[in-house]
Amino acid sequence: MEFKSESEKQTMQFAKQLARQIKAPCIILLKGDLGAGKTHFVKGFAQGMKARAQVTSPTFTIMNIYQGKVPIYHFDLYRIGSDEEAEQLGFFDYFDHDSLDGISIVEWPENAPDLVQNYDIEITIEKLNDENSRLIKLRRRD
Ligand SMILES: Nc1ncnc2c1ncn2[C@@H]1O[C@H](COP(=O)(O)OP(=O)(O)OP(=O)(O)O)[C@@H](O)[C@H]1O
Ligand SMILES: [Mg+2]
Repeated sequence: MEFKSESEKQTMQFAKQLARQIKAPCIILLKGDLGAGKTHFVKGFAQGMKARAQVTSPTFTIMNIYQGKVPIYHFDLYRIGSDEEAEQLGFFDYFDHDSLDGISIVEWPENAPDLVQNYDIEITIEKLNDENSRLIKLRRRD
């Protein structure tokens, strides 16, 4: 399905609604250019999961954990160069439905394609001509 967002707030609201329907374990990929709104999407998603912690970009820490109804593992793989690197950092358990106890939500999943291959939902946020407009596409695997 597709949703046209006209503001940061609408993107967060959309993510918040999605969070209310999601059950763990679940692996969500977030695609889109720099500044598309992936981190803002996670902010709204965490609100929908009743997480109280401040959502910040894990660009340097690679992963942040927020405790909501279930744990939310927020990844930013921007600085990860390969699947080998992701494996060395011990991330594979967060992408295995048998060991995942919460939601893994991942910015820049393209940087470790094997790691995220068993994803459940792919979200793509596309910038449109208007500065605050975004096209959000949601696709479930299969
Ligand atoms: N409709 C919209 N939805 C989301 N963000 C928007 C929208 N319109 C404008 N913005 C702005 O775009 C920026 C999105 O920043 P954000 O950090 O969420 O992007 P990102 O995709 O996580 O980038 P990065 O790849 O660098 O991590 C913010 O400054 C936000 O205010
Ligand atoms: Mg980001």
